[in-house]
Parts: sequence; C-alpha cells; structure tokens
Amino acid sequence: MTSARFVHDLQATHSCGTLRRSHEGTTVVLMGFVQRARNLGGCVFIDLRDRHGITQVRIDPALDATLALNAQRLRAEFVVAIEGVVAHRGAKNENRRMPTGEVEVHAGRLEVLSESATPPFLIQDDSDAGEELRLRYRYLDLRRPRLSRNMALRSKVNQITRNYFYEHDFLEIETPILTKATPEGARDYLVASRVHPCHFYALPQSPQTFKQLLMLSGMQRYFQIARCFRDEDLRADRQPEFTQIDVEMSFVSAAEIQRTIEGLLAAVFREVLGEDLTLPFPRIAYDEAIARFGSDRPDLRFGMELFFATEAVSGSEFRAFADTITGGGVVKGIVAPGCASWSRRQVETLSAEAAIFGAKGVLSAKVESDLTLKGAFVKHLTAEQATELCSTAGAAPGDLILLVAGDATTVNAALGHLRLHLAKMLDLIPKNQWAFAWVVDFPAFEWDPGEERFVALHHPFTSPHPDDVHLLATDPGAMRAEAYDVVLNGLELGGGSIRIHDSELQRKVFEILGLGNDQVEQKFGFLLEALRYGAPPHGGIALGLDRLMMLLTGSESIRDVIAFPKTTRAACLMSGAPSRAEAIQLKELRLKLEPHEET
Ligand code: AMO
Repeated sequence: MTSARFVHDLQATHSCGTLRRSHEGTTVVLMGFVQRARNLGGCVFIDLRDRHGITQVRIDPALDATLALNAQRLRAEFVVAIEGVVAHRGAKNENRRMPTGEVEVHAGRLEVLSESATPPFLIQDDSDAGEELRLRYRYLDLRRPRLSRNMALRSKVNQITRNYFYEHDFLEIETPILTKATPEGARDYLVASRVHPCHFYALPQSPQTFKQLLMLSGMQRYFQIARCFRDEDLRADRQPEFTQIDVEMSFVSAAEIQRTIEGLLAAVFREVLGEDLTLPFPRIAYDEAIARFGSDRPDLRFGMELFFATEAVSGSEFRAFADTITGGGVVKGIVAPGCASWSRRQVETLSAEAAIFGAKGVLSAKVESDLTLKGAFVKHLTAEQATELCSTAGAAPGDLILLVAGDATTVNAALGHLRLHLAKMLDLIPKNQWAFAWVVDFPAFEWDPGEERFVALHHPFTSPHPDDVHLLATDPGAMRAEAYDVVLNGLELGGGSIRIHDSELQRKVFEILGLGNDQVEQKFGFLLEALRYGAPPHGGIALGLDRLMMLLTGSESIRDVIAFPKTTRAACLMSGAPSRAEAIQLKELRLKLEPHEET
C-alpha cells in the first residue's frame, strides 16, 4: 500500500546530501530511495539516498511504536518520504566517510510513496553486476552515485558551454535531424519517407553543411550542442549516436577559432575540476606528430619518442634492414626503459602487437652496462653502427631498443601503438595531467588504394593551406589543408577547419575526390549554389562532448557518460532497439525486406 498524500501536503526541505551539525534541531522533510534499512538494538535505521547523497534516518519504537513497525517493512529501493528532526549522532557513532555522517534524522513521520521489487543488482558503485545486466536496467544503473554524478557533471558542462558562447555573441541554432547525407566518412542511418515513397532522409553525421549555410545566411557566430549519428564500427570512445559541441564562425582565422575553443576548455576545466589550463595549447604539425609519436593524436604526457634508425643501420647486410632500405622503406625504433631483462617470449608479445598494424616483426637489442648492444641482429652491424644506433636511440644501460622496418606508414603506426602499449604496461603515464595540443597542417587528401581515388582527410569542404593552393593542380596528394584537431591525453577531442567559400574551388576539390558532375549536383548542388550569393570566409570546429566527459570524469568507457547508451553492436538493451517494423508500417513505406538469418 503506498500513499502520495504526503507529497501533496509536504515538500522536501533538503536533499539527502546537505544536512550537517549546523542543522541540529531543525525539522526537515526528506524524500528519496531506501539504500538500506536495518534493525539495530530495536531501532530502525534507514540510509535514505537521492542524487546528492545519503542521510541516516532513525526510527525509535520507544517514541513511536507504530512508525517503527511500519518501517520494518522497508526494503532496498522503496521510495519514501520522512519528516523528522536533525540530531547529532553522538561522537562514537559519527561516520567520517559520509559528508552527512555527523548527523541523523529522528523521524516522526514516514510514508512509503512507492514500493520496489528486489532490484537485479545492488545500487552502489562497487556493484559487481555485468554491464549487459546494467544496460538492461539502465534506469537502476543511473541511480548509482558514480553514474548519477557523471550525469550531473555533463549537465554542468552543457551549462558552462552555453554561458560561454552566449557571452561571446554566438547564436544557438538547431539544425535538422531528418536531412541529407553529410560526408564525414561513416555510413549514414537512413529513415524511409512515407510521403515520398522510395526516398530516404539521412540522419546527420554532423551539422556540417547546415552550419556553413548559416554563415552564408549572415549568422556570423553559431554554436549547437548537436546530436550526430554515424553507422561505424564502435569502440570504447565511439557511439552510433553522440553529441558534438559544434561551432562555426565567419570572418575568422584558424588561430581565432583555436583561441575560442581554448577559452571554452579553460572555463570547463576551471569550473568542473578547479584546474587552470596553460594557454595557448602547444601546436604540432601533423608530419611531426606522426614522425615523433607515430600518431596524429599523440599522448604528450610522456616521452618515449620514436627515433630514426635508417641511417645507423644502412649498409648492414641484415635482410630486414637491407631489403627495407632498398625498397624505399624506413627503420625506426623506440626505447623500452629498463626492459633489458625481458625474455624472448615477452618481446614476441610486442611483435604480435605490432603485427596488428601490419609490421612484420619487432627486432630487439639489450643495452649492456658499457652501452654495447646484445641481440640477434647486432652481429650484422659494425661496432660503429651499433654505437650510433645506441646514441641515436638515446638509450641507457638496462634499456631495450625495439626496431621496426617497413614502409613509413606501417612503421609509424606500429611503433605509435607499441609506445602506448609499453607506456601503459610500464606505468609511465602520469596521472592527473592534462596534455592538450593542436595538431595542425593535416594533409588535405589521402589516396585510397581500394577505391583508387583521393579521399578528404577531414571533409571535402576544408580549405587548402594558403601556402599550398598551387599544389591543387599539380600534386594534390602533397597539399596540406587548413585543418586542425585538438587532442587531449592521446584522444582526439575535436576537429575543424577553415572552409572553402569559393564555389569554383569547391567544385575543383569535388573533382579531385573523383565526384562526377551529376553526383556533385545531386549531393551538394544546394551548397555550391549558395556559395554563389556572397559567402563570408568562415571556419569552425566540433568537439566530441562525450569524449570530453569521459576525460573529465576519468571514465574508461564512453557509455558511462551517456544516459542511455548503445552496446558495441549499436543496440539498446533496455528498450530493445533496433526492432522489427510492423507489416503495416513497411507497407505504408512501400518497403519489402529480404529474408535473412537473425544474428
Ligand atoms: P569530426 O568527424 O572530426 O568533425 O568529429 C568531431 C569530433 O566528434 C567526436 N566524434 C565522436 N564521438 C563519439 N562517437 C563517435 N562515433 C564520434 N565521431 C566523432 C570526436 C571528434 O573529434 N563537422 C566536422 C567538424 C568541423 O569541421 O567543424 C566533424 O564532424 O571527438
């Protein structure tokens, strides 16, 4: 039997996280979930929880026998309201681990507002329930303090973001969800149109084209906390449906956009974590990031940079070196500090890691106390070559030199991965450090050997680097773009660019990307047309809000900062989405389905 009467004639006066000794003697009303109820020495003690914390409530049968009897039936997750007086617990009963641990509320009135079935797992942070079960009962999972705190922080970041952009004269404008394909490199989610049979809307991969059109509309400064949809392989930092802090500005330079974003991130870190970020963030060119860290999103919290070994080993008849160098490849390496004592088996595990990125193997050499090298390939080097290798590597006695030979792309990717793998394994990554950087001067295009055409590294609306425009006609593969990414602790937090605002240049870029005239007209005709009517120079950026929240909350998974996330197979275990459509719906949409096996 439950009653809602109490809520009608009384209002909660405090949250369950606020009461302190200064409230002693005050009559309060609290409402929340029963974390646990227990009987101790005749009294009933209730831990009452809301999203702000837990307060202990005490019901003494000596004061009110009926009330105590009523409290006996309370179970975990019952929703109750209590009225009572705040009292000191007494020195020996204080709980210093709880912010409210000095006090308890002596209840004079208790109402059960709703009963709860036995929950499928305990609602507490160290719940050992598997993620699948927790995702199925997400609304219960969200009651856990850690997730509930993540939601509150996310809300705060949204608020800081809005305040920041409003203060800087931006307009918040919503762009359509039912729209046309936007080229961000993933597959589209399609929505069938009933009114236009056999036609489909695409859900936006980003508001890219719309925000550019808003600049053409004269809005000058736009932002949106925008939902985006991408049908792509999911990882720990990716969701099919995610949120961007999306920004576009007219009459700006890349530097001004970067300054604006630095200001936003500084405000967020100051207000959420009390951290003062050092501005401006360091800038590193794409080529340099790849050469030194093997990645375009380098983790700058630690060193262990890649070094060039091609020169040191050139002339050696060792096949892996000689064949690679003759074939135009490179030999590069990293130093695993203090790992000279590693067994062959341990080094072989590194080869397996490098193989994920296509490397044929990892060669290793131990650095002896006199700085000589010991390893299978060392006998193929002269003493001078070995010395040069050791000094180029910057290795010290007790270190292990690891080399990878092959084409530059494979070598950098493999070593970039080994660098992170080893740093985690050897615990070399300092905690509580925020290593921001701008990666700039990205190549505009990348050759796709499968499709035998160039693809845009950022997106096709990105402007060529002002110093490289001449390469558009002669060597587009060597052309840099005016594009930039902001990276934090090895994660790509956001990316943006200065856009093309000239319709002829835009056409030319589409041509280089292998799009025929018909395709261009059909996909982007509206944008090209719009560029003909006076286009302010413009540029922008989008930050991944979910990724930002992952870092701010120290979460391992992006799912921990999204209220209702999807699994890695893009399913919602709670609602059962995606699900089959009704026959009548398919008929209305004039869709026929091909039979297939359930997976
Ligand atoms: P981009 O594709 O680089 O750029 O995306 C910007 C940022 O969005 C985040 N992000 C994701 N987060 C979670 N799950 C995903 N599947 C996912 N995909 C991307 C990343 C990324 O850095 N329109 C351009 C921006 C611009 O040019 O202004 C764009 O979308 O943090």
